[in-house]
Amino acid sequence: MNNRNYENLIIGAEQTDTEICFDNAATTPPFKSVMAAVCGFAPFYSSVHRGSGKKSEAASKLFEQCRKEILSFVNGDPVHDVLIFTKNTTESINKLAAALACESRNIVIATEMEHHSNDLPWRKHFKTFYAETDKAGRLCLNDLEDKLKQHKSKVRLVTVTGASNVTGYINDIHTIAEMAHKYGAEILVDAAQLAPHSEIDIKKPDTPGHIDYLAFSSHKMYAPFGTGVLIAPKAVFQKTSPEHSGGGTVNLVTRNNVIWEETPHKDEAGTPNLMGAVAMASALKTICDVGMNNIAAYEAELLKYALKKMSNISGLRLYCDGKETSRIGVIPFNIRKIPHQDLAAALSQEAGVAVRSGCFCAQPYVQKLLGMDDHTIKYYQNYPDAARPGMVRISFGLYNTIQEIDRMSDFLSTLTHSNIKEIRKNHEHYKIF
Ligand SMILES: Cc1ncc(COP(=O)(O)O)c(C=O)c1O
Repeated sequence: MNNRNYENLIIGAEQTDTEICFDNAATTPPFKSVMAAVCGFAPFYSSVHRGSGKKSEAASKLFEQCRKEILSFVNGDPVHDVLIFTKNTTESINKLAAALACESRNIVIATEMEHHSNDLPWRKHFKTFYAETDKAGRLCLNDLEDKLKQHKSKVRLVTVTGASNVTGYINDIHTIAEMAHKYGAEILVDAAQLAPHSEIDIKKPDTPGHIDYLAFSSHKMYAPFGTGVLIAPKAVFQKTSPEHSGGGTVNLVTRNNVIWEETPHKDEAGTPNLMGAVAMASALKTICDVGMNNIAAYEAELLKYALKKMSNISGLRLYCDGKETSRIGVIPFNIRKIPHQDLAAALSQEAGVAVRSGCFCAQPYVQKLLGMDDHTIKYYQNYPDAARPGMVRISFGLYNTIQEIDRMSDFLSTLTHSNIKEIRKNHEHYKIF
């Protein structure tokens, strides 16, 4: 295994003596280059698209330059596509759902493996069907095609995660795009988990595997400051009125009339998040400098090593197949007889390993992976405050190391039901218990 010293790119990675972060699917720490870019631009920080001062002109120019660079990161077409800045993936998907809601076709096909952010916005505006996952939790393309055939001309959109935040499985987005297009639908890829770990090429609009809509967040790509993006065909947003109206969205306002600005400005109400855009563009540049293929190869080695180590731990159950291919570095698991909350707390308190536990904002998928039947699910509906079943998830970033996996695995190997009880006693102050 090559240690490529990617940890040198990260602020705070040197603190791993105190805490190992295996919760990168939630949020990643910042790149040093991102903080340098933000601080470097800070003296010129000013209002975007409003002022006539030199700083304001520079700020507006930079903001539009960031837009171009982020679009080009996924090979978007600046003539055909628009990139709308948002807060995060969730806001991007809500914005798209609201924009498409006024159209006559009222069906969206999602999948059983979606994050709530790529499920609930569709339920709000559309009749939503879910393509099934198989026993291991992988998406069944046959079922997706059956659903497309069944609902044919009524399907407006197929919406699918690029990679699952629970199992790490990568979906074959271009095959799914071809399938959606064959039945006259379009496709949204929720790339919140895919974009940090794999090259994405949305392809030219006239290719059958073209991705029509794409959403992702910067805070999972080593750039804090709260930026997300929605990439969409310009033509779609040219005909809608904005979801949020106000400053920046209009060309002309009279007492009785409003003429909207062109997209993307019409769709970015209020003062935009300039520093967020600077941070995101800078993070993507660092990723390109390192090479997304190098990152993917390194993370695949981490995943392979961790899967092998973890499958040798007695009582540990993985909720994913053992295949290392078509995966990002996300592993869901439990240890027999140890509640997931206790396991996560013990990892943090005793071993200094930060993980996530619960259902990871993908409750229907986790319920299925756990094998919960309707009766059990009903119980939790009736008793919403009852402690719920769940899993523990580890998720890698490019700066994690084999040594960190060893430290976690060594600790997990020592765990038994009885010493977990002991650990709980020692940490009674810890709220999660
Ligand atoms: C697959 C997936 N989609 C959407 C989201 C929502 O992203 P955000 O919180 O940045 O809006 C997440 C967040 O974890 C995710 O994992």
